[in-house]
Amino acid sequence: MKFVIALVVVLVVAALIRKIVRYKTLTPLLPRKYNFGKRRDTLREVLRLLDERGAKVLVETGVARMGLEKSKGDGASTIVFGLWSTQNDAHLYSVDIDPEATAKAGEAVNAMELGDHVTLVTSDSVAYLADFTDAVDFLYLDSYDYHKTDTSIQQASQAHHLKEIEAIEGCLHDGTVILIDDCDMPNGGKGKLVIERLTANGWTVHMSEYQVILLRDAG
Ligand SMILES: C[S@@+](CC[C@H](N)C(=O)[O-])C[C@H]1O[C@@H](n2cnc3c(N)ncnc32)[C@H](O)[C@@H]1O
Repeated sequence: MKFVIALVVVLVVAALIRKIVRYKTLTPLLPRKYNFGKRRDTLREVLRLLDERGAKVLVETGVARMGLEKSKGDGASTIVFGLWSTQNDAHLYSVDIDPEATAKAGEAVNAMELGDHVTLVTSDSVAYLADFTDAVDFLYLDSYDYHKTDTSIQQASQAHHLKEIEAIEGCLHDGTVILIDDCDMPNGGKGKLVIERLTANGWTVHMSEYQVILLRDAG
């Protein structure tokens, strides 16, 4: 009986430790209760690079419609980069084709008083990026949803993200930091064609996990 109790205690403690180790926060930017899971380490590295480079113009495709609620599932990108922009006198431009998504993201942005440093736009991302004229210090690509098994959706998503990079390429510079979401997925994820194009044009993969970071300088 004693042996069984000891075994249960060991298993419970091991499960607790596993949970704590896998709980990945973005402190001090956000409180410990927000878990960023598989995106945490790449987000942390991006924030370090933005600090180091004094980024001022941040652009993302695909808004965080759930604000911080889906930090683990989706990444809460608009809040993460909007908060960083607010604290660093920078500005985040965030575009999404779905008006409901931009409206919900707007509620979350306003609730956190980030509105002075975040512009939310409802538009197709390729059209929006093609009209963008400022030099972009940080670009985050996370629009057209990928699919684990449907290859036609996978190809459409990859083609869309390639069009995004082609549309904004003229605004990128040597110090630009690029982050692409959902890359560690079957058949190369959202970044497959973008990464092929960028690496053929002098960019290097700086960090490759679930998300991929690319830089043009040595980093
Ligand atoms: C995965 S979600 C973005 C998640 C967000 N980055 C976050 O951290 O929570 C993808 C978003 O891309 C948007 N989207 C899909 N196709 C698009 C397009 N052609 N142009 C702009 N946004 C698009 C969808 O409406 C959706 O809100």
